[in-house]
Amino acid sequence: MKASAPGKIILFGEHAVVYGRPALAVPVTQVHADVDVSASPRAGIWIEAPDIDLYTELNAIPSDHPLASVIHNLFFSLGIDPFPALDIRITSTIPVASGLGSGAAVSAALTRALAAFLSKPLTDEQVSSFVYEIEKIHHSTPSGIDNSVIAYARPVFFIKGKPIETFKVGTPFTIVIGDTGVSAPTKESVGDVRRLWTMDKVRWDSVFDEIGQIAMTACRAIQDGRPALLGGLMDQNQSLLQELTVSSPELDRLVDAARKAGALGAKLSGGGRGGNMIALVEAGLAETVSKSLTEAGAKRVIITRVE
Ligand code: MEV
Repeated sequence: MKASAPGKIILFGEHAVVYGRPALAVPVTQVHADVDVSASPRAGIWIEAPDIDLYTELNAIPSDHPLASVIHNLFFSLGIDPFPALDIRITSTIPVASGLGSGAAVSAALTRALAAFLSKPLTDEQVSSFVYEIEKIHHSTPSGIDNSVIAYARPVFFIKGKPIETFKVGTPFTIVIGDTGVSAPTKESVGDVRRLWTMDKVRWDSVFDEIGQIAMTACRAIQDGRPALLGGLMDQNQSLLQELTVSSPELDRLVDAARKAGALGAKLSGGGRGGNMIALVEAGLAETVSKSLTEAGAKRVIITRVE
C-alpha cells in the first residue's frame, strides 16, 4: 500500500503562528515523502529508509524515534494488537531540517500508508491531527500549520486551534525556493523565540501582531488576484524575522541575491537560521533568479507555481 505527502513552504507568518497569529502555507509538490507498506514474509516490522541509512526492525530503535512513535501511536489508536509482520519502505526527496516540512511529510505518508494497509483509511483531518500529536512529541510547541498544509495538500490560512481554512488563489504566481544547505532544526529556533518572548512579551507580541497583519493582508491580495503586492509584504515579514533573530548570514545573502536579480520580494521560510528562503518572481524571471541564488551559494533551487 503506497502513500505520499508533499513538502511545504510557509509564505507568511512563521513563528508568530506559534503565538496564535494567522499564517499562510502552501504545498510544494516537487518534493515529497513516499511510503510503501507490504506484508512481510518474516516476523516483525522491518523499516527501510535509505535516505537516512536506516534498515532496522521496529524493536531495535528507541520507542521515541520519530518513525517508531508514528507506528506505536497509530497501532494503539487503531487498536491493532498483535502487530502484523510488515515491510515498510520510506523514501523522501524533501531535504531534512530545512523548513520544508520533511518530518511532518514522512509522518503523514507513513500514517496514511499504514492505515490504508490495515483497511482503516483516514481522512485528511484525521491524518493532520494524528501528525500534530507526533509533532508535539518532537517539537514541543508546534503551531499545527505544517501537519495541516501537508495532510490537506492545499494552500492554508491557518490560526492555531481553529479549523483550517483553505484559500483560493485568484491569479497564480511563481515562487523560487533557495536552500542555504545549512541544517537548522525548527525546535531550536522556536525555543530561542520563546526565550525572547518570555523576557519581553510586550515587545515581541507587537512584532507578532505586525506579522499577523502581514499574513492577513497577503491572504486578501492572493484571493483578489493581486500577487504582485506580496513582494513588499515578504520584505516586511523578513525584516521582522530578522528582528526575531531567526534569519542568518546565509539566508540574508540569498534574500539579497534574489532581490538584486529582480525578485519582487524575498524572505526566509519555516523555522529559519538556515534551511530555505523564498522569493516572489515574475514567471519570466524565475530562471534568472534561480541562477543568481545558485551563484550566491544556494545548494538547491526549486521553482514552484502557487495556483
Ligand atoms: C515551521 O515550519 C513554522 C514555525 O512557525 C513553527 C510552527 O509553526 O510550528 C517556525
